[in-house]
Amino acid sequence: MNAIPLRAVAAPAVETVADPVIRVRQLTRRFGEHAVLDHLDLQIRRGAFVALLGRSGSGKSTLLRTLAGLDAAPAGSIDVPARRSVVFQEPRLVPWKTVEQNLALGLRGPDPAGVIAAALGEVGVAHRLHAWPLTLSGGEAQRVALARALVRNPELWLLDEPFAALDALTRMQMQRLIAEVWKAHGATVLLVTHDVDEALLLADRVLVLENGRIGTDIDIALPRPRRPSHPAFAALREQLLATLGVDTDDEA
Ligand SMILES: Nc1ncnc2c1ncn2[C@@H]1O[C@H](COP(=O)(O)OP(=O)(O)OP(=O)(O)O)[C@@H](O)[C@H]1O
Ligand SMILES: [Mg+2]
Repeated sequence: MNAIPLRAVAAPAVETVADPVIRVRQLTRRFGEHAVLDHLDLQIRRGAFVALLGRSGSGKSTLLRTLAGLDAAPAGSIDVPARRSVVFQEPRLVPWKTVEQNLALGLRGPDPAGVIAAALGEVGVAHRLHAWPLTLSGGEAQRVALARALVRNPELWLLDEPFAALDALTRMQMQRLIAEVWKAHGATVLLVTHDVDEALLLADRVLVLENGRIGTDIDIALPRPRRPSHPAFAALREQLLATLGVDTDDEA
C-alpha cells in the first residue's frame, strides 16, 4: 500500500470491507469555499469492479484524480496501491511518438518490447504497434490507452468515463474488453461513468457521489454475463436513475 501524504488524518481506521485495496477516510477537497468532497469515507475490496455515478459536477473526477495522486491539496487520508493506472475519456497519447514509443514511456523491466506487444494483442490492436496516434480511430486510440495502462500491470485501474466519447458499437466492445481484462488480471477497477446501464453491465458494486460523499452504495448481485433483460436489471436501473434525479416516466 502507498499512503499518499495528506494533511490531517481525522477518522479511525475502521474496516468496512474485507481486504480493502482502497481506504479513504474523511477526504475533503475544496475549491474556494465549496467542498466538492466533504469528509468522504470509502473502502473498496481487492478484486472488486466498482462503478461511480453522480451528477455532472458532483466530484467524480476530483475523487479519481485524488486516488491517482494527481491532486495535490486534499485533506484526509488515503491508502491506495502504488501500482495504479488511470484511463481518461480522451486517450492522451503523445502525438509525436508511435504507439510503441507511447507505451514504452517510463516502462522498466527485462522485456519491454514483449510486454508492449502482449498488451496490444490483449486489447486487439497489435497491428498498430508502429502507428502514429493521429492515424488511429477513436476506438483504436482508446484501446491503446488501455494497453498503456496494462503494461504497468496495475493492481488498481482508475477509469474516468473511458468510453464516453466512443460510438455505441465500439463502446459495447470496449465494455466487454474491460470486463475481460478485469477478469484475466484479477485487478480492482473503479470506473466513473454517467451511464447507469454501463454500471449495471460491469460492476459488482455501484456508488453514487452526492453532496461530497458516497450517498448510495449498492451491491449488484446480477449473474454474469450481465443481461439487461434480467428481471432485476430494470428495477436497479430505475432505482439508480431516481437517485440521480432522472424520472424514468419521462424517458422516451
Ligand atoms: N481545478 C479546479 N478548480 C476549481 N474548481 C474545480 C477544479 N476542478 C474541479 N472543480 C470543480 O469541482 C466540481 C467537481 O468537478 P468534477 O470534475 O470532479 O465533477 P464530475 O463529477 O467529474 O463532473 P462530470 O460528470 O461533468 O465530469 C465542479 O464544480 C468543478 O467546477
Ligand atoms: Mg468528470
